[in-house]
Amino acid sequence: MGNKILIINYKAYKEAFSKGIDIAKYAAQVSASKNISVIVSPPFTIINELSKIAKTIAQGVDEVDPGAFTAHITWFELKNTGVSGTLINHSEKRYTCSKDGPLAYDKLEEAVKKCTAAGLETYVCVQNLEEARKVAEMNPTGVAYEPPELIGGNISVSNSKPAIVKEFCDIIKSSSHSLALIGAGIKGKEDAVKSVELGSDGLLVASGIMKVEDYKQVIDDLISGLSK
Ligand code: G3P
Repeated sequence: MGNKILIINYKAYKEAFSKGIDIAKYAAQVSASKNISVIVSPPFTIINELSKIAKTIAQGVDEVDPGAFTAHITWFELKNTGVSGTLINHSEKRYTCSKDGPLAYDKLEEAVKKCTAAGLETYVCVQNLEEARKVAEMNPTGVAYEPPELIGGNISVSNSKPAIVKEFCDIIKSSSHSLALIGAGIKGKEDAVKSVELGSDGLLVASGIMKVEDYKQVIDDLISGLSK
């Protein structure tokens, strides 16, 4: 593929509010000057503001259509908020019917279909290769492999599970048009270089950017690694 992708997940970190705008401005600036698409994924409450600054995706969506669904997020709301798309099924907000229950693939697929029909990009997170295979059949914009036990830690998915990452990328490329993205514990250039070597089209990063003082340096390092 052409350009690599870097998705910055703001999660519900307090820093999303203290420096979210500055990070979005920097994301827009580097995306314009380098061959990397830097996308921000802020909390819903500031999504409108940030989507005017940088390429922005929501942190999730429900599968329902507009209607009597209190506290749900619909494709229609997203479409009218100015975002480019959405993360779906992040480990911290899984598409399950009960806590720790199995994935509701039918609902997940419905959400992907509705967003796609509305012209929204979809980046679906998966926890393992079995989920990756099933989600690849839905042909979302991207499938993101994030082993839950590494999320928020200092050991990167690319260093810790290179064989699985490679297999994941092979599965996505051979069975769909989706981009193969990886995330969890990604902190710097070395992680980015390794992820590209293993076949990844890009990265999802949260704490490695949101929780550091010099986030610009980290973004620069990641971009430089992804460009190798
Ligand atoms: O969506 C990205 C995220 O789950 C990874 O978190 O803190 O390990 O970069 P982190």
